[in-house]
Amino acid sequence: MEYNASANPALSPSEYTAALIQVLRERRAAIAGVSALEIGVGSGVVLAELGALGAASLCGVDIEESAIDACQTLLVAEGMDDRAILHLGDMWEPVGAHRFDLIVANLPHFPMPDGGYGIRRPSWSAGGPDGRRFLDRFIDGLAAQLSREGRALITHNAFVGLDATRDRLLPFGLEARSALSRQVFIPPEKIALMPDAIWRREEGRTLFHLGPYAFGEMVVLEIAWDGTFAAEGDNG
Ligand SMILES: C[S@@+](CC[C@H](N)C(=O)[O-])C[C@H]1O[C@@H](n2cnc3c(N)ncnc32)[C@H](O)[C@@H]1O
Repeated sequence: MEYNASANPALSPSEYTAALIQVLRERRAAIAGVSALEIGVGSGVVLAELGALGAASLCGVDIEESAIDACQTLLVAEGMDDRAILHLGDMWEPVGAHRFDLIVANLPHFPMPDGGYGIRRPSWSAGGPDGRRFLDRFIDGLAAQLSREGRALITHNAFVGLDATRDRLLPFGLEARSALSRQVFIPPEKIALMPDAIWRREEGRTLFHLGPYAFGEMVVLEIAWDGTFAAEGDNG
């Protein structure tokens, strides 16, 4: 494969993308043959990784035409376009009643008002003042799209409320556990957009700084139907 340094920088993968890909690669055996859906494909690397790991079908959704184009280009270059279908649209709306074995997402969920930062489009990061605008919509639609044995893997800033996510999943009969946890550097221009109330609530817990350099905890959250993790011998 030839490295294409001219790829759209506004769509370049982030630390969050890499964390999600790491978890997918650790679960290689469970990915072969699945039907996979990604909400918010961006550059397309996560969907392409799912294809490389042997997913039988790849479905991708994004609200941005440039992301759909970039993803399509990548899947063609990787020879995976024959098992892929891409939709330009909003979250769950384009996939109808279809259910998937594996659903992945690295949603915009940084707590900041609408708008972009740096070279990123407004739709890349902003999750509204509490960061949960898309996370909550994702959770509310997930049960209707997940197959009986299905699961989801999503990136999740700990500072927007892991307990709130678990509580919201409960009535749908879904549970969550952390598949990976790591600290990520948060650039000063993003910290400047974060509401003070979030910083005050989370500093010393899921956010900290060393001088002008801020870090936050993120997890890759695995979501499955109630009882799945206990059946796997994980009692929390
Ligand atoms: C943080 S980026 C992640 C991109 C890519 N999955 C990755 O990990 O590098 C979030 C993506 O979600 C898309 N997005 C934002 N709002 C959306 C919505 N309502 N429905 C579908 N996609 C959306 C953005 O255009 C962007 O590509």
